[in-house]
Amino acid sequence: MAITTATFLEKKKRGEKITVLTAYDYLTAKIVDSAGVDAILVGDSLGMVALGYSSTIPVTMEEMIHHTKAVVRGRKNAMVIFDMPFLSYQTGVKDAILNAGRALKETGCDAVKIEGGVTQKEVIRALVDSGIPVMGHIGLQPQSVNVYGGYKLRGKGEEREKIIEDAKAVEEAGAFAVVLEKIPQSLSKEITESLSIPTIGIGAGKYCDGQVLVFHDMVGLFEEFKPKFVKRYAELGKLAREAVKQYIEEVKSGKFPGREHSY
Ligand code: KIV
Repeated sequence: MAITTATFLEKKKRGEKITVLTAYDYLTAKIVDSAGVDAILVGDSLGMVALGYSSTIPVTMEEMIHHTKAVVRGRKNAMVIFDMPFLSYQTGVKDAILNAGRALKETGCDAVKIEGGVTQKEVIRALVDSGIPVMGHIGLQPQSVNVYGGYKLRGKGEEREKIIEDAKAVEEAGAFAVVLEKIPQSLSKEITESLSIPTIGIGAGKYCDGQVLVFHDMVGLFEEFKPKFVKRYAELGKLAREAVKQYIEEVKSGKFPGREHSY
């Protein structure tokens, strides 16, 4: 059954956990969709994981649209969420509506995600009023890495109250869910209990209404670094490298192709 924003809210009411994974291409979308994930996030982590950039900052609308179209072709039931790239919404309400509207019209995605709480309240409200479902994203906001000076834990000390204010702002603006990234578990618990929209955690502990991970992290394909919050459910990078080594050996030794692979 197709997952919608209403499903997210119903799941929160029923106390049923929501599962989200990233995908940037047709094949990955098919795998995570057929496994039964609730939503596929075409994250701007695309920049680092699939395009080799050093942060999410360089990612463009064109790149996001190209990859989201492929993801939409690969899903049957999961909701597809388009991550709005840096500077596609921070420049004002009009740009945000035009870019998010373009994402929906050109890719067939179901919703967009934007980073920011209090600062993006007006933008989130304008998008929702224009018929564009929005997932918020607070706590660590990777598009602000240059302001933070790194990817450190957020929400400690005085920043705790600020993140609670961000959560309230995102809900009041009409978002259907909010990502909580890299904040203490006690803070995500407080936010989750105080909001009526679901919280989707990444590095935010077990009390969130759902969880999101980068697919390439959780299957061990992205090997450059592993944040503490990532659990590797498989080691596909190692497996693929072994397979490639064996292929090279067999081609060199003449073992491949065998009779069964020949006409
Ligand atoms: O870009 C992304 O993959 C994300 C998730 C980590 C939430 O924003």
